[in-house]
Amino acid sequence: MTSPLRLGIAGLGTVGGGVVRIAQRHADLLAARAGRQIQITAISARSRDKDRGLRLNAYAWEDDPVALAQRDDVDVFVELIGGDDGPAKAAVEAAIATGKDVVTANKALLAHHGQPLAEAAEAAGRALRFEAAVAGGIPIIKALTEGLAGNQATRVMGVMNGTCNYILTRMERASLPYGDVFAEASDLGYLEADPTLDVGGIDAGHKLALLASIAFGTQVDFDGIEIEGIERISIEDIEQAADMGYRVKLLGVARMTGRGLEQRMSPCLVPANSPLGQLENATNMVVVEGDAVGQIVMSGPGAGEGPTASAVMSDVMDLARGLRLPTFGQPASNLTKAPAAESAAAAPFYLRMALLDKPGALAKIATVLGEAGISIDRMRQYGHTDTTAPVLIVTHKTTRAALDGALAGMGATGVLDSDPVAIRIEEV
Ligand code: HSE
Repeated sequence: MTSPLRLGIAGLGTVGGGVVRIAQRHADLLAARAGRQIQITAISARSRDKDRGLRLNAYAWEDDPVALAQRDDVDVFVELIGGDDGPAKAAVEAAIATGKDVVTANKALLAHHGQPLAEAAEAAGRALRFEAAVAGGIPIIKALTEGLAGNQATRVMGVMNGTCNYILTRMERASLPYGDVFAEASDLGYLEADPTLDVGGIDAGHKLALLASIAFGTQVDFDGIEIEGIERISIEDIEQAADMGYRVKLLGVARMTGRGLEQRMSPCLVPANSPLGQLENATNMVVVEGDAVGQIVMSGPGAGEGPTASAVMSDVMDLARGLRLPTFGQPASNLTKAPAAESAAAAPFYLRMALLDKPGALAKIATVLGEAGISIDRMRQYGHTDTTAPVLIVTHKTTRAALDGALAGMGATGVLDSDPVAIRIEEV
């Protein structure tokens, strides 16, 4: 056997603990598969004394992750600290500068600094790998980078925040409003320390930016994503959508267009009988469409100790076997800087509005839609109150720009009781 691959692990939270457990439990299996031992030599975390239920005596301890990254007895620096800046970034930079390969689960770090970090790693002849950063246990980075390398990707989609999917499915199942389920998710410990990362679509946006880079050969562009979270999704929309055969999902979509790279992370309606529509609770799903392969659907646990540590070990095993792929599937210096394109592809839209219940109100709305060139596919009026008439409309395919024009026109009719809700229906 060749010499052991020596790991330095920074961060002993849920994921770090999981990596230590796999390395210990599967030491023989990993060595057999890699042809060499995977050995943890040093660790670092915020608190040395905390009881984590782990056997850590055999490993050297560093208080400072940068010092850990620079140790001579570390070949691979495993960054499981988190955060887009601060110690995680400093330690990854130090690891690369001292000739270490890096494995990270840090989507925020790569979404914001992926390009310079990948360039630095490649210039140093080292690898920077991040399987665990996207969709937890689903090996989607490997699938895109290797298994689908012969394809031109045409579209990449994903439900990649388990917490949001849990909230949306629980709202529908229990017929509960957003606020109640958000509180439940918080009590269950599902939410990130800053819940906006989850419900604001930011965490899922970080993941989409990384997938888009590999799929389309572009520099990571998190700021180019149109992001909208799930905070404004009401139980009424979930129930009405379900009644019409749709489910609401926080869906990321990336496509290369003639105008540039379109990246959206927003609530969408998808057919309830589609794989995405059937996705329950905290499970993640990624859909890749390639010109040769057609559609690939991968689903699985997107978070948690075992799944995320499994993904970290996948990268570690590649390095142990001597497989050093470029971070984003091709040399970072080749990645293009695609302009961010607003979504212009036509799609059907779901519209819900409350009209003042008076003669001609519905006709005025239909006229505005017609004048914007928007055709109505389905319409229903339901649940009258004394003064308002809730109306649901599903349009034929139209552009977001035409729809926005129509929404502005509707506001000027004076027949709306409140702002209309508009949700894109994604063809999946
Ligand atoms: N908070 C994330 C989720 C976990 O709910 O999916 C990892 O990004």
